[in-house]
Amino acid sequence: MDVTEELARDAAARLGFEHYSNDWRALVNDPEIDIIVIVTTNNTHAEIAIAAAKAVKHIICEKPLALGAEQAKEMLEAVQAASVKHAVDVDDEFITMVKFDNGAIGTIEATRNAWGRNNFLTFEIHGEKGSLYFNYERLDELQVCFADDPSDAKGFRTVYTGPATPYGEGLWTIPALCMGYGETKIIETYDLFKAIVEDTSFHQTSRMTIKLN
Ligand SMILES: NC(=O)c1ccc[n+]([C@@H]2O[C@H](COP(=O)([O-])OP(=O)(O)OC[C@H]3O[C@@H](n4cnc5c(N)ncnc54)[C@H](O)[C@@H]3O)[C@@H](O)[C@H]2O)c1
Repeated sequence: MDVTEELARDAAARLGFEHYSNDWRALVNDPEIDIIVIVTTNNTHAEIAIAAAKAVKHIICEKPLALGAEQAKEMLEAVQAASVKHAVDVDDEFITMVKFDNGAIGTIEATRNAWGRNNFLTFEIHGEKGSLYFNYERLDELQVCFADDPSDAKGFRTVYTGPATPYGEGLWTIPALCMGYGETKIIETYDLFKAIVEDTSFHQTSRMTIKLN
């Protein structure tokens, strides 16, 4: 859907959709539709989400969720009252010091304003038994180092996603050829459908998981 019929019709034709609309209220109240994905401008998120919740639709909303905390609270209350699955996609710019319940400390820093860092979203974790490093520009790879590695082989090695890693069964069967931005959306949608079918909670955090033994 889009703001004018012409834009909506054009997008439907390009992307292969059978139906289109220029009225989000019609979509929100359409009994054939179970899930509303809100990717409109930020000033429209709250109104659409609250109406969608009232129509008992599951919701994924783009960040920033709302124009302020008060509006976000109203959205949360609406989805809770309707008992629908709900989630928000998040990124952009911030820096913070963090202390976790288990005593671990760290910094989190993000910006969209560093030339050359096209999608350089990284995390590096140092623990007693080793370290992990991840860079979003290399979505298929996790750098891993164990403290008890032999001294002549100490350093990061690369673990790749593949059929053996979570969600691998639904993606390409070739290791190191599984994850692109599109795949993260496929996994997100799979998790949402699964949460609806099994009536479990919907956690997006699971989508980048690699289990290390
Ligand atoms: N999570 C992420 O990684 C990520 C990345 C980019 C953008 N976003 C978020 O996605 C949202 C959209 O961003 P964008 O860059 O695609 O913006 P955009 O301006 O390119 O697209 C917004 C679309 O919403 C439509 N729209 C505006 N008002 C509308 C209304 N009242 N009813 C129906 N449609 C309406 C516009 O016609 C347009 O097609 C924003 O909230 C943005 O912050 C998130």
